[in-house]
Amino acid sequence: MKQIEIEGGHLLEGTINISGAKNSAVALVPAALLSDDVVVINNIPNISDIDALNEILVYLGAEVVRENDTIKINSKNIVNREIPESISKKLRASYYFMSALLGKYKRVEMFFPGGCSIGARPIDQTLKGFKALGATVIEEDNKFTIFADKLIGGHVYLDMPSVGATINTMLAAVKAEGETIIENAAKEPEIVNVAIFLNNMGAKITGAGTSEIRIVGTDKLGKGFTEVIPDRIEAGTYIIAGALMGNNLKINNIIPEHLDSLIHKLKEMGVKIEVFKNHLFVSKTPNMKPVNIKTIGYPGFPTDLQQPLTTLLTQCSGTSYLEETIYENRFQNISFLRNMGAKIDQLDMRHIKINGPVNLLGMTVEATDLRAGACLVLAGLIAEGTTYINKSEHVLRGYENIVEKLNEVGAKIRINEI
Ligand code: EPU
Repeated sequence: MKQIEIEGGHLLEGTINISGAKNSAVALVPAALLSDDVVVINNIPNISDIDALNEILVYLGAEVVRENDTIKINSKNIVNREIPESISKKLRASYYFMSALLGKYKRVEMFFPGGCSIGARPIDQTLKGFKALGATVIEEDNKFTIFADKLIGGHVYLDMPSVGATINTMLAAVKAEGETIIENAAKEPEIVNVAIFLNNMGAKITGAGTSEIRIVGTDKLGKGFTEVIPDRIEAGTYIIAGALMGNNLKINNIIPEHLDSLIHKLKEMGVKIEVFKNHLFVSKTPNMKPVNIKTIGYPGFPTDLQQPLTTLLTQCSGTSYLEETIYENRFQNISFLRNMGAKIDQLDMRHIKINGPVNLLGMTVEATDLRAGACLVLAGLIAEGTTYINKSEHVLRGYENIVEKLNEVGAKIRINEI
């Protein structure tokens, strides 16, 4: 097991460079399969979720060459075969292979995907998208067999703006006959990144980034190139670290517009933050004001920053309220924060109340999921003494070189194998 060890109380100074977005990259890599030629993706983050997707690509017969942050994928010799559950359950994004294989071969057999245990995370909306294109879905013992003689453009209204269902429907529809319309689509920047990549290969997608996406099917997708956008969640996590312990900490290589909801909340709290075109500076701020936060799809406050932000709310003077609207089990970090000294009441499954400011004490805690782990890393940075975070494999799934990046700006953090 990997354990992160952090000695708290060190100021953070210097620059943190933000990597490519996990939630873009994990869709771009499976999307590469739709091409009949070679595609190149730059700014790929070095995280274990990408390793798991590469394993699937190689299993299917793709040639994958990874050099620094560039990946070159040749899908000419792919064989459409069942992906073993042992690989697909490693991560949620494995289900982008469901749609990519269905789109390309009109048939796929795959198991229910894995991912952080933060709620039920059904895939009914993805299946709704496939059915709208004329596919038949057979579900048996956690395994899905999805097929069609041909996929025909359809009209789908998503019951909720699901990121996964939006991307999956796009991937399945790019090679369908005729036009597909996705209504109530998710608007996350990662979806735009995927659409631009597919268009670069020859797809005809318009409206990505709005709630109505139109896809005109095309026969063949060829060579393609794209660059992964900066990770707004990684950036947000380090911006919060700066608000906790920064001394003019520079967060570099960001698209500030993607971070608007966080930056505005931090300004409301009184955090010292100066925003420029592709970087910002943030500093530890005394007497931060409490705020109320509700997670919601983009451009609202992202659920993926809810747990990291909770650590900051323990340092505000007064009572903050936080509502989680996306997942029904995304407060598993709370009991560990409480053990460290935080004053947090869980009001019900979706609401917590945080009273601050409090001093946190270092101790042994557990990363139950990726962003819970990030929340505890932030808590460790400010805690008195040493914090040990067990099950930190979860953190490494989504944060490239987190230990190196934080040490470089003055933190005292390392990974132990225990
Ligand atoms: N939902 C359904 N049915 C569906 C799809 C979703 O009920 O068919 C529900 C989910 O249970 C959830 C909500 O709708 O309550 C939103 O789910 P969504 O499909 O938008 O999420 P996702 O595609 O599974 C991606 C990210 C998550 C991020 C969400 C929301 C990836 C691999 N994962 O998940 O990232 O929280 O969008 O922005 O892109 C993370 O990075 O820590 C993470 C969990």
